[in-house]
Amino acid sequence: MTAIAAPRFLQSTVGKKVVMAVTGIILFGFTIVHMLGNLQIYLGPAKFNAYAHFLKSVPSLLWGTRAILFISVLLHVVTAVQLTALAGAARPRAYSFRRWRSASYASRTMMLSGPLLALFVVYHLLHFTTGQAHPHFIKQDAYWNFVTGFKVVWTAVAYVVCMLALGLHLIHGAYSASQSLGLRTARTAPVFKLVAYAITIVLVAANISMPIAVQAGVIKLHVPTEVPPVVVGVR
Ligand code: HEM
Repeated sequence: MTAIAAPRFLQSTVGKKVVMAVTGIILFGFTIVHMLGNLQIYLGPAKFNAYAHFLKSVPSLLWGTRAILFISVLLHVVTAVQLTALAGAARPRAYSFRRWRSASYASRTMMLSGPLLALFVVYHLLHFTTGQAHPHFIKQDAYWNFVTGFKVVWTAVAYVVCMLALGLHLIHGAYSASQSLGLRTARTAPVFKLVAYAITIVLVAANISMPIAVQAGVIKLHVPTEVPPVVVGVR
């Protein structure tokens, strides 16, 4: 594809679906790596805080990753809005009900799970990264923030609900990405479906286990590295 043809390709519906697929795969990959890193919470405060410290120890890697994630989220959201607008404009009113019914449950919920996940990411950053949405945040103690964060029942429940929405979103997203990238044939379709389901189920189960383990007392508080200014109602 020439440099002149590329922008025209990205303006087409096929091009936009490829953008959705590529950015979706990047974000899917991030959630897997992030989940594997977070599972170190089960190894205790020293290991988890060392891991959190390591993530921030190479600024070029940290900011490079953040930039890729930010651009991917932006392109994914903007392109999703554009594709929805295009589909709405192309769809004759009389057919809308039938098309809705023929879509799978996961694909019908894409437009609900997508915005919910966008809200989740904003809340999640304010909760665990910057601390504005965390009543007991201590800057240098990721383990403390993790456990005191999930000690709050409604927060734990909200994370579980959002991870279920993430599961629905990823199952449909991964499956349709294989189609958008032209990888799906009659023979490979069942394999893609199986792989998408298997990875998503493991990811969601692992993510959900963490707030539940804090609530169940399996992951316990430790003595924080610095005394928090106000610690109310945390046991
Ligand atoms: C139960 C599931 C999850 C847990 C327990 C969790 C935990 C955490 C923690 C503890 C941090 C802060 C790390 C630190 O600053 O030391 C963090 C950061 C972050 N999380 Fe999650 N996370 C979860 C799910 C997700 C999901 C599903 C996404 C994306 C869709 C996500 C995206 C991010 C991002 C973008 C950051 C900021 C990374 C940075 O500092 O640049 N997280 N998460």
